[in-house]
Amino acid sequence: MGKTLLGISASPRKLGNCELFIKDIFRRMGEGWELRMARLPELDIKPCRACYQCLFDQMKCPREDDFLPVIGALAQADAYVVAAPVYLLSANSSLKALLDRGLQFYAFVDQLWGKPGVAVAMAGIDGMEGSGKRDVESFVKLTLGDLRGSAVVYGALPGESLLGEQNSEIAKQLAGALLDPAMRLKPAGPVCPICGGDTFRFMADGRARCMLCSGSGFWQFENQSLAFHMEPGDHPLFLGKDEVIGHAQWLRGMKARFLEKRQELKAVVKPYVGMGTFIESKK
Ligand SMILES: Cc1cc2nc3c(=O)[nH]c(=O)nc-3n(C[C@H](O)[C@H](O)[C@H](O)COP(=O)(O)O)c2cc1C
Repeated sequence: MGKTLLGISASPRKLGNCELFIKDIFRRMGEGWELRMARLPELDIKPCRACYQCLFDQMKCPREDDFLPVIGALAQADAYVVAAPVYLLSANSSLKALLDRGLQFYAFVDQLWGKPGVAVAMAGIDGMEGSGKRDVESFVKLTLGDLRGSAVVYGALPGESLLGEQNSEIAKQLAGALLDPAMRLKPAGPVCPICGGDTFRFMADGRARCMLCSGSGFWQFENQSLAFHMEPGDHPLFLGKDEVIGHAQWLRGMKARFLEKRQELKAVVKPYVGMGTFIESKK
């Protein structure tokens, strides 16, 4: 039996750049692999209703849609590629819609943990990727995968991502990283020493926060390069399997905290009940 690569494309375009680039990576992985694809905008992935049912009892989201088949395919895959088009400076919303249902991932920790994954942010204009790279990296990290590499690929017209030496080298490297952990890609610039992310928020107190793992610490120039000295945050979401299970447990504890504070919360909410008029759906 061959191994399965799951390609998750967040693009609505059939044979658009995300789909083509995933297929290009697959093609470079050689014999013994088969490709399964998910085109997220075509699937019915409803918004999370914040009911937290996926954390309790059967650990199953009550929404009836295509979310569980996608997570099931991810759980069964041997490796995965996620590619999302950059829309208005971030990965497009179909990727986030899937990720927003992610408290359900805690029911699949054993199947998802450490699965090789790579991430591609597809941008039409060089330099206009916004948070796209972090967004796709965060998808792999939060689905508990082993992020072997990520890249911003430039290509606007459908098929353009397959043109040029640079893009083809990226596809080759990402395929190699999926096949062999020793070939994992490292960003060329300074990275977070905890998670390897390279998207930071610079704080007023002179510290920086990693936008991937939420670690924070100070930064300074060392050998003419920026270096980050970070500590993990209080809620590491993917740094270790035990931390993942611990965070799910902490979330379960919110139920008791809510019940404790219920009366106090009810009182502060009361003056806002019935305030304003809401736009109604035409549906
Ligand atoms: C609504 C919309 C917004 C876009 N915004 C950006 C952007 O902010 N930055 C950018 O570089 N490209 C932007 N693009 C271009 C796409 O990222 C680019 O065409 C990409 O190749 C699309 O991938 P696809 O062919 O897989 O759909 C935008 C495209 C659309 C349709």
